Amino acid sequence: MDVRIFDSAERIGQEVGRLICDYVNSNPEACLGLATGMTPVPAYNYIANEYACGRVSFAKVTTFNLDEYCDLPKEHKNSFYSFMVDNLFSKIDIDLGNVNFLDGNAQDVEAESKRYAEKIKAAGGIDIQLLGIGRNGHIGFNEPSDKFTDEAFKVKLTDSTIEANSVFFDDIPMPRWAVTMGIGSIMRAKKILLVATGESKAQAIKNTIEGEVTPENPASILKQHPDATLFIDKAAASLLK
Ligand code: GLP
Repeated sequence: MDVRIFDSAERIGQEVGRLICDYVNSNPEACLGLATGMTPVPAYNYIANEYACGRVSFAKVTTFNLDEYCDLPKEHKNSFYSFMVDNLFSKIDIDLGNVNFLDGNAQDVEAESKRYAEKIKAAGGIDIQLLGIGRNGHIGFNEPSDKFTDEAFKVKLTDSTIEANSVFFDDIPMPRWAVTMGIGSIMRAKKILLVATGESKAQAIKNTIEGEVTPENPASILKQHPDATLFIDKAAASLLK
């Protein structure tokens, strides 16, 4: 696992956005795994600007998002689908028919998990998986647990996660459940780019880099991935030895 420390979230966005655009320019039919949250936004802004300047096209790209809330209409302003449309998809030439999300309202989660896994496989697997990290070390919505998961599943969100995300829910209570790609799904990506900025991620980053591989800190599994890179700012790196 490589660790790269930057002066600012902006620089991280440029570096990660550049890597993704270069990959898509070399592989127009790329399959990208995408994340929500505020940390990936500078990279999405960089990508949108590259598209606006005519330096990249996403017309043949397929995407899979990590997770989605349960019990929330897909078009609700706080769904992760809406987040991606607002922050990236509406600003580039991606075909929304090639955009994939887990259905948070699926009655049969097992079947939905199988459907997603088969769709990822049919797309040739994820070439580049972009990740953020939760304050408690979660990736996607793989919360601290006593085991690593494999394929997508339904998860009860922790208080820490609800606290961090409920600020955005002003019209309805924040969902308590979500569906997320599992650790196995994430680890099967060919390349992983994790972005983390700010003091609030320093402990999770320290545990990920310096701690043991444990499902208590889900991101620690990335140490076992052949091509995972952490892009962090000085605040997120502030507890590293
Ligand atoms: C949510 C998402 C994660 C994201 C995390 C951190 O829990 N499910 O994918 O990494 O929030 O978000 P932020 O980047 O806003 O700190």
